[in-house]
Amino acid sequence: MSWNRVLLFSSILFYVCIQQQFWAGSSINKNKSMVEHLQRYGIVQSKKVTEAMESVDRALFVPDGSSAYEDSPMPIGFNATISAPHMHATCLQLLEKNLQPGMHALDVGSGTGYLTACFALMVGPQGRAVGVEHIPELVAMSLKNVEKSAAAPLLKDGSLALHVGDGREGWPEFAPYDAIHVGAAAPEIPKPLIDQLKPGGRLVIPVGNIYQELKVVDKNEDGSVKVRTETSVRYVPLTSKEAQLRGY
Ligand SMILES: C[S@@+](CC[C@H](N)C(=O)[O-])C[C@H]1O[C@@H](n2cnc3c(N)ncnc32)[C@H](O)[C@@H]1O
Repeated sequence: MSWNRVLLFSSILFYVCIQQQFWAGSSINKNKSMVEHLQRYGIVQSKKVTEAMESVDRALFVPDGSSAYEDSPMPIGFNATISAPHMHATCLQLLEKNLQPGMHALDVGSGTGYLTACFALMVGPQGRAVGVEHIPELVAMSLKNVEKSAAAPLLKDGSLALHVGDGREGWPEFAPYDAIHVGAAAPEIPKPLIDQLKPGGRLVIPVGNIYQELKVVDKNEDGSVKVRTETSVRYVPLTSKEAQLRGY
């Protein structure tokens, strides 16, 4: 077998191995059942994350005709995806302590707006949930999705906002943030995101190219940071709009 074939097969095998999926198919047809499954697999562990995920119906955020509650990422156009429910749940759990009422949260690569909506419900009307997405059409779509969801009142009162922008620069207007989530894999952790993290704040970000790891970055009170690896993951790249639109 040629080296090219060996390489191709090993990358497919690698991709399949790290594409964790806790259930498949469309047998789950209710948002509540999806959250129950995530609890059963130990991914959703807290009341607060349960409440947020039960309140934000995933069906409002996936393209029409998709099996909304399947544990799988789904294409949303523009070479982007909505992340799988278990990844949304994992990130919400990792950030829960930094998503308390009144706190500030930033969602970089907000895509469909699903996770920004969950953040908004968790930080509440006294807090701030800011999404930044670089494809204007996806921002327009995410605004429509949120308007149909339980987070609509928070969009109306301005505590939830979705902006067009390069998320690698963060969103300085509402910094510093208690929680920052990045929904696309960066080659390295962008400095502006660390700068915009509050002391005591937490950043959750996939890092890497072909091989990616979900990193948890905690900022100490003295401004230093501690970085640890949570798990292996597979995300679309955090890149320029041009690179994304030509297929990376
Ligand atoms: C996995 S997708 C969507 C994730 C989102 N959490 C969701 O589930 O709907 C990642 C998103 O990051 C966006 N993205 C990639 N690079 C970006 C950048 N530099 N600035 C802002 N958004 C970016 C993509 O357009 C895409 O919508």
